[in-house]
Amino acid sequence: MKMTFYPALAGLLSASFVFCAAEEPPVDFARQIKPIFADRCIECHHSGSLMGDLNLQSRKLAFRQRSGGPVILPGRPENSLLVLMLMLPAKDKKAMPATGHRIPMDEVNLIRRWIKEGANWPEGDEGFIPAKKASKEKNV
Ligand code: HEC
Repeated sequence: MKMTFYPALAGLLSASFVFCAAEEPPVDFARQIKPIFADRCIECHHSGSLMGDLNLQSRKLAFRQRSGGPVILPGRPENSLLVLMLMLPAKDKKAMPATGHRIPMDEVNLIRRWIKEGANWPEGDEGFIPAKKASKEKNV
């Protein structure tokens, strides 16, 4: 009796294992992308400091019509200025973050994957990044 039971169970287990291994969960903006933008980008890209005319505090602000064109093209990270600028050599004047310290490649890859998956950026508090002053900034 047990002999017929085990193979079925084993089949079930391996099927769920394959499913888990193949399906990486989609990038979660609030948990994975927001902290990167908050730590590395917001100090220069918020409504009180619109460097490059870019505000990354919310989806609405980041996607608003701007003279430089969109920086995020959902589904097309290879054409998104936001990704391209993170991959420039540090010496390049346009390289981001502008402070010269580089953003780790795994974070760039995460942003790239997030855009590839459609740049899902929730509305409301979950998707809003408050501005914070950079410690090295004087009284601005
Ligand atoms: C220390 C300030 C500073 C930080 C930090 C910073 N930026 Fe910038 N950013 C700038 C400035 C200044 C410009 C304008 C550069 C220019 O036009 O040559 C700019 C421009 C940009 C642009 C291009 C806008 C356009 O249309 O030309 C993008 C995209 C961008 N930043 C993304 C980011 C991202 C993403 C981060 C975080 C990983 C970041 N920046 C961090 C200062 C900063």
